[in-house]
Amino acid sequence: MDTRFHQPLINSGVKVSELLKGKVAVITGGSRGLGLAIAQTYARAGASIVIASRTQNTVDAAVKMLTAAGAQASGLACDVSVMAQVQALADHAIQTYGHIDIWVNNAGLSAPYGPTAQIPSPDFLNVINTNMIGTYNGSVVAMRSFVAQKSGKLINLLGRGDTGSIKYQNAYTSSKVWVRNFTKALAAEYKDSAMGVFGFNPGLVRTEMLSQVHAVRGYESKMNPIRFVAALWGNAAEVPAEKALWLASPATNGKSGLMVTVLTPGFMLQRIFTTLLGWLLRRPLELMDLNITSVNPVSQAAPIYLD
Ligand SMILES: NC(=O)c1ccc[n+]([C@@H]2O[C@H](COP(=O)([O-])OP(=O)(O)OC[C@H]3O[C@@H](n4cnc5c(N)ncnc54)[C@H](OP(=O)(O)O)[C@@H]3O)[C@@H](O)[C@H]2O)c1
Repeated sequence: MDTRFHQPLINSGVKVSELLKGKVAVITGGSRGLGLAIAQTYARAGASIVIASRTQNTVDAAVKMLTAAGAQASGLACDVSVMAQVQALADHAIQTYGHIDIWVNNAGLSAPYGPTAQIPSPDFLNVINTNMIGTYNGSVVAMRSFVAQKSGKLINLLGRGDTGSIKYQNAYTSSKVWVRNFTKALAAEYKDSAMGVFGFNPGLVRTEMLSQVHAVRGYESKMNPIRFVAALWGNAAEVPAEKALWLASPATNGKSGLMVTVLTPGFMLQRIFTTLLGWLLRRPLELMDLNITSVNPVSQAAPIYLD
């Protein structure tokens, strides 16, 4: 286990395997990618885990993997854009483990790459509903539970473009700008409490979100640089998961409102050096596999709601 992010706690005598002992963590989008890595990392730190995503069989497979590794884990199919399902997830966690101490709003989507008006409206709105409404739903359900027990940590996933805007990625980046502002306002509301509200940008992570993408027809080639950028700068999900462990741990007690971004400058310098060396030795960088699915552009005025 990488101990860089929680060294102060280890120095104070707390074992990494006991950082979250007795804690219960709910992780949305925990069936794969970063969410699963966070679930595994929290479990290794002693937490009981509840994961959720929309697909029951992937939730079941992830729970099986977690329990096979010795974790206390449970899961529920849940679409975070539906408040009743998010409430059912919280109820499930409380019924199974008695309480909730950590809630990670990790479930996230991106829309096809391309001009905003050419993206099918259901695809665009799906991102808004998952990234924004889903974060709202998870946040209020978690905070209601935390307020009642006077403790708890909420971690909301930020992402690329969360402080600005990026053309052709409008749904994703504008949703993450919203998540950042929403999280800051929420943190301010609970500033003087024992609860922690945090924003977490994991940096570039090699997951399906990066490697299985959609693009409006004609814009596919603009995505090709991702192969190189991800190979050069992308981290395995375990790296930001360690930072998420630090955020959930007692190290952040009293630090509500932190907006944390994973930066790994040492790793980046090392990759630049090995890439240059590889070129000299005629061993080019192995690019990330990228699977681009084309989406037909919406070329004429189409109603957003058909019924
Ligand atoms: N990868 C990166 O480089 C990167 C960078 C910055 C931020 N992030 C953020 O990190 C988070 C995780 O991303 P990732 O890279 O791990 O993505 P991923 O590999 O695509 O995994 C996304 C997870 O979210 C679930 N999900 C999607 N929509 C959902 C919904 N409506 N309700 C419930 N679950 C849903 C997916 O499962 P189902 O499809 O089965 O529902 C899956 O478990 C996201 O918030 C993303 O924006 C990622």
